[in-house]
Amino acid sequence: MHVHEAIPRSEYEAAAAWIRERIPFPPRIGLVLGSGLASLAEAVEGSIAMAFTEIPGFPAATVEGHPGRVIVGKLEGHPVMVLQGRVHFYEGYSVQRITFPIRVMQLLGIRILILTNAAGGLNPAFRPGDVMILRDHIGLFGMAGANPLRGPNEADWGPRFPDLSRAYDPELRALAREIAEAEGIPIHEGVYVMLGGPSFETPAEVRFLRLIGADAVGMSTVPEVIVACHGGMRVLALSGISNVLNPDAFEPPSHEEVLQAGRALVPRLTAIIRGVLRRI
Ligand code: HPA
Repeated sequence: MHVHEAIPRSEYEAAAAWIRERIPFPPRIGLVLGSGLASLAEAVEGSIAMAFTEIPGFPAATVEGHPGRVIVGKLEGHPVMVLQGRVHFYEGYSVQRITFPIRVMQLLGIRILILTNAAGGLNPAFRPGDVMILRDHIGLFGMAGANPLRGPNEADWGPRFPDLSRAYDPELRALAREIAEAEGIPIHEGVYVMLGGPSFETPAEVRFLRLIGADAVGMSTVPEVIVACHGGMRVLALSGISNVLNPDAFEPPSHEEVLQAGRALVPRLTAIIRGVLRRI
């Protein structure tokens, strides 16, 4: 599979139609649950679950901690569509394929998207288990050409040159911060940088990422946010800091550590997401 893939509009529409036939109501809020955070979907009531593998066009998840299911149900009274697990570029899919479910969400009528991920802390103030609200991102990967919007633009999906200066909705960010503070959850706001992975960063790369202004590093989220913004969605993205990266006393992160911190982060992220949903 190449970095890019031309996916015809009919493929997105077929997936949306397939899901529409199986759900009792149109979802309005989308949730994307990253590494180790999939259990958050258990909070969804009256849910209908569909495996990524059965939905036409959906990419199959291959990483441990990502079951790869779409769950539609109610959370805090809102009709939600949850991606329980996501796929990553490093799994071998094109940037268009990894964002396929986001475009399908747009077609189904979703206007607010909440994403979670596990990330390595670059900011020296961060500790494992902290939560970072994304204020902005550095799409290092997309800046070099791997942008999911590459190819002909569908004008009724969004503009050719979308503005990303307000990609992370200021109101949703303020709400998330307020709720985290009220719950006593260690919370930061910062800049997320996405790399292709799957190898972790070298100490020199960690030094570089700090220098360019990144607070946390991960291997997801940015392509999804680009497609969501293009499609006019309001976005809230939360990083669960699973490990910290210090270039001067380097400890290699492990996938196990990421999953373990994820388990500790689940109640925190659940509390923030539920709190935000209660207030919107
Ligand atoms: N680097 C990149 N991605 C990550 C990390 C990390 O240290 N931790 C969790 N996802």
